[in-house]
Amino acid sequence: MTKLMVLAFCILVLLNIIACVPSSSAAPLLGNNNVTKVESYMLQNGLGQTPPMGWNSWNHFGCDINESLIRDTADAMVSTGLAALGYKYINLDDCWAELNRDSQGNMIPKASTFPSGIKALAHYIHKKGLKLGIYSDAGNQTCSKRMPGSLGHEIQDAKTFASWGVDYLKYDNCHNNGISVRERYPPMSEALLKSGRPIFFSVCEWGKEDPATWAKSVGNSWRTTGDIKDNWHRMTSIIDVNDKWASYAGPGGWNDPDMLEVGNGGMTTEEYRSHFSIWALAKAPLLVGCNIQAMDNITYELISNSEVIAVNQDKLGVQGKKVKSNNDLEVWAGPLTNNKVAVILWNRSSSNATVTASWLDIGLKSETIVDARDLWEHSTKSLVLGKISVELDSHACKMYVLTPKRS
Ligand code: GAL
Repeated sequence: MTKLMVLAFCILVLLNIIACVPSSSAAPLLGNNNVTKVESYMLQNGLGQTPPMGWNSWNHFGCDINESLIRDTADAMVSTGLAALGYKYINLDDCWAELNRDSQGNMIPKASTFPSGIKALAHYIHKKGLKLGIYSDAGNQTCSKRMPGSLGHEIQDAKTFASWGVDYLKYDNCHNNGISVRERYPPMSEALLKSGRPIFFSVCEWGKEDPATWAKSVGNSWRTTGDIKDNWHRMTSIIDVNDKWASYAGPGGWNDPDMLEVGNGGMTTEEYRSHFSIWALAKAPLLVGCNIQAMDNITYELISNSEVIAVNQDKLGVQGKKVKSNNDLEVWAGPLTNNKVAVILWNRSSSNATVTASWLDIGLKSETIVDARDLWEHSTKSLVLGKISVELDSHACKMYVLTPKRS
């Protein structure tokens, strides 16, 4: 063989190897090319194949929590039908424990507010077909300073949580002695894995050390931002920060732009509709943060939209993202299973405007004909070609699933 033939042979072998590397099944424009890259380093607890759904006490109740509130919330989750729609986690946030550990160093539930203990609460919640989440901190104390953190107690606390029947741990980042996040979160992840119980691990380091780039091997979700607030400005700014990390999300590990504020009163109905739609498209955890025992009909209508929830829970697990932005008129989109595409047209400007998504913006060939399902009107427009265009009030959005028919 001449040298040239040997070289040609080597190139062919190399091309073959490259062609054999598995790639994401997503459409190229909207593809999640990093999923394959990080998959081998994923946390192996099998949880979070779709984003978690449930409720968390913090956004509405802060430290004002007790066991009857949690039990009543679990009851409401079931009686309203939200549980059947997928909202299964009932998550305690800060302030459930005594400030001091017991003589053996165990964390103990606050006697005045959780007198029956967490094990009994977990039992109650499991009997309703739901799951219980709890909260701790990768530091000496939690952010409220009303309870201890788990730094240096990871194995003991993970065992305690598992023995109580806890299903989910949100792990915060206050009072951390200035030690790197990368040192403080993995020990709890490992302790949970060894605890003998599958426990969803929610990394809450507020996006400090770019968790999207490393936390997939540690947790099932990671906060990408500081705290949400119940207003338009904060909600829109954190979803923009979260968007930057879209390509890192996927089954087993999700970007977390913080919990929902829908129903807490600080935004208009259209703003809350946008909040819920964008969170769903971005494959964010859908953790309701209002008082579901007293929610109004509009709140219920928003958070119970099964078609929007189906986008969030789509098995492909590709985070939808902002694909076009022009003077606060935006298009967000992402691929779904069966070649469908989810798209949101969003008017973030302060006056009415027309927003247009052309097929090229959202990863479809221009000659593709689709059925466009409006997820808020619950109506379908057949045989749409090339683009979709809609007039929107200020801060309003439209959300569609496009099903390609032929091209
Ligand atoms: C913050 C966290 C919030 C909430 C709060 C409790 O650090 O981001 O979601 O958990 O602590 O003190």
